[in-house]
Amino acid sequence: MLAKEAMGEARRARRATLAGRTSRAAATIADVTTRQFLVRATAAAGHRLTRLSARLDHKPPAGAPTQSTGKTLAGDREIEWTWTLAHLRRDRGRVLDFGSGNGMMALGAAFAGHDVVAVDLEPEQYPFHPDRIEYVQGDLNELELEPQSFDQVINCSTVEHVGLAGRYGSPDDPDGDLRAMAKMARLLKPDGDMVLTIPVGRDAVHRPLHRIYGPERLPRLLEHWQVREEQYWAKPTDDRFEPVTREQALDEAGARSYYALALFVVVPR
Ligand SMILES: C[S@@+](CC[C@H](N)C(=O)[O-])C[C@H]1O[C@@H](n2cnc3c(N)ncnc32)[C@H](O)[C@@H]1O
Repeated sequence: MLAKEAMGEARRARRATLAGRTSRAAATIADVTTRQFLVRATAAAGHRLTRLSARLDHKPPAGAPTQSTGKTLAGDREIEWTWTLAHLRRDRGRVLDFGSGNGMMALGAAFAGHDVVAVDLEPEQYPFHPDRIEYVQGDLNELELEPQSFDQVINCSTVEHVGLAGRYGSPDDPDGDLRAMAKMARLLKPDGDMVLTIPVGRDAVHRPLHRIYGPERLPRLLEHWQVREEQYWAKPTDDRFEPVTREQALDEAGARSYYALALFVVVPR
């Protein structure tokens, strides 16, 4: 009798152990599945937000390949934004965010402790209420801003649009980009600098979307500026940006939905 009870007890214990293992395994699978689901959902949401943000900027869709090359602009915003944030001045100062758009760079500069003046042709549409950002709606070339009053200018993916009518409510002004660059050189204090990101490749104007700066117009754009730091990125192998030489970048055949990138820190001459 005692032996039978003991055997029954042992069977129950084995069943309980097996049941425990099964439910732990099920819980682990459920955890992993939930985690994977959350990771994927977050990544997908991030990707959708980036694409939405690009659409709001009226960028050509990053996923639309150029007909001849299959290259897209995917990744351009990430590179330009991170370059810009990485080159914000360390010492607190007054920063002009030229063409502030969705406000990410202005907010980054405010988080870094700067007092920011954000200028854009369009009304402010930030999805947040900033407290260290003064928003000024208007055309930079027409605004009255005090000379030598800024420590840094952020010019992230903006100057190539200036004066191309039909996209941002800009008046047609073929040399509006050159005038803006000359004006910003005057707005900086003597030790000020500008973080600049632009499309580069063979010279072209894709109205009303953007200019692409090449061997002809790039020197004109930088006429009043001296280059302190520079990097060039393009897609020579597949649809991913990688660092390339200046020569390679300026030889890229750009299009409405693809170009190489130039990333600069420049100071007035
Ligand atoms: C492609 S968005 C870039 C926005 C932001 N800098 C970024 O990197 O996400 C270009 C912005 O420049 C602004 N813009 C174009 N021409 C301008 C001008 N002449 N004066 C002020 N803003 C201008 C547009 O309204 C638009 O918001």
